[in-house]
Amino acid sequence: MPTRTHIPLESLLVTLPATFRDVLEVIQANTLGIVFLVDADRRLIGVFTDGDARRALLTGVELDDTMTVDSPYYNHAPHSLPYDCEISEIWDLFEQTLRCIPLLDANQRVVDYSTRERIKHFMVLEPNIGEQEISNVLECVTSGWISSQGRFIGLFEKAFNDYLGGGHAIAVSNGTVALHLALNTLGIGRGDEVIVPNFTFAASINAIIHAGATPVLADVERDTWTIDLEELRRLITPRTKAVMPVHIYGQPARIDEIMEIAAQAGIFVIEDCAEALGACYKNRRVGLDGDATCFSFFANKGVTTGEGGMVVFKDDEMTDRARILRDHGMSKTKKYWHDVAGFNFRMTNMQAAVGVAQMERIEELLHRRKVIFQTYDQLLSGCQGISLLPKNSWSENSYWLYTIILDGYGESGRDLLLAHLGHRGVDSRPGFYPLHLMDPYREFAHGTYPVSTYLSANAICLPSSFSLTDEEISHIVEIFIEELAEIAPTTA
Ligand SMILES: Cc1ncc(COP(=O)(O)O)c(C=O)c1O
Repeated sequence: MPTRTHIPLESLLVTLPATFRDVLEVIQANTLGIVFLVDADRRLIGVFTDGDARRALLTGVELDDTMTVDSPYYNHAPHSLPYDCEISEIWDLFEQTLRCIPLLDANQRVVDYSTRERIKHFMVLEPNIGEQEISNVLECVTSGWISSQGRFIGLFEKAFNDYLGGGHAIAVSNGTVALHLALNTLGIGRGDEVIVPNFTFAASINAIIHAGATPVLADVERDTWTIDLEELRRLITPRTKAVMPVHIYGQPARIDEIMEIAAQAGIFVIEDCAEALGACYKNRRVGLDGDATCFSFFANKGVTTGEGGMVVFKDDEMTDRARILRDHGMSKTKKYWHDVAGFNFRMTNMQAAVGVAQMERIEELLHRRKVIFQTYDQLLSGCQGISLLPKNSWSENSYWLYTIILDGYGESGRDLLLAHLGHRGVDSRPGFYPLHLMDPYREFAHGTYPVSTYLSANAICLPSSFSLTDEEISHIVEIFIEELAEIAPTTA
């Protein structure tokens, strides 16, 4: 299944005999600089390119001359491939500078063609932008409300609150600054410690560092991939001001227990929900428990605004403080008067315009992702050598990015698989690297982190875009299983 349509195949076909004029008109119209010459049954006879045309005309061919099967002016032995070939075979021909390859059925009939543009590459996550998103952005652009004032900011915050079912949502420029703003608003900075899981995207720890606080890395649990409660208890010191549980890959952390531990220790909880919009914990939406909860609307998220984020507070006073900090720390009543040194963390009206349209169809956007996960689960459930995302009775994943563990394949086996999948048109990703192994974060380690190290080395994320069809998922799984069989596990 190597190609999809753009320029229809019909506009590349010429049945011989035909006049040179007819052939040139087809080349001119299809803009590809090539035609496939076929017989009355559509069987491939040869190909004729714009270069062949130039050479023929220079040797004195007239436009009204007839090109026959025996004509010397075209390539009688062109490259072609079977329709059900592997994408890698097509890429091999492109590497030999071929630009347009006829694809044939078992009877040598032309049934499709491949160009670089037509090769289907399954991206790991693509945004889904609809007409309403475009129309909202157009309104911003044509009305001039393109910065951080305009009607869509308030509408987006309200729609987000309504979806979560509570809290005070504040729209910001991305998920990382949502975390930064949460930390600042809660008064966390120099000399304070914040406990954060070792298995997360680095934005979580970067926000702590840039807020001036000291991150303290905790390992994660094998059965939720989220912060290990024993580690959390062990790492709390008199300097601890907050814990930042991360609902990694949309897997809810054990938030009730975390809230309890935090209450006993007198520390804040800042939830990193960047990947968890729509996830559920004990039948409630993730994102309403912590003192602050932070979301991301990066292009690959379930709901996107291009770049964008949201921080949600429970407390009215914190909400007011965060709004001021987001807007340079400027007084709400006295223009250009600053009571505090703030930030410009504002979202633009254009981003919010996209967000408003996305929130109108959030159920559709998230539901399709859920079905995609279920389809993968079904197709992969009997597959040897892998473990699916862990499930439990008290939480539901946000269905952000389909991630599995290759049992014991290790980083080298996993990376080999990533490369092989890529060669066959399937974009995939490794798990996040454990923070303690990277230079900027080594000094914040307090242990050896066996679970995050194992998950990271063996995790692989498969394409999870909203637009994937069931047929495409089956195709991806087929390729995945074939390629996995070629690679041996390397570690216990
Ligand atoms: C766990 C986690 N936290 C924070 C962020 C930061 O969000 P953003 O990219 O919007 O800054 C991300 C980004 O994807 C993330 O995955």
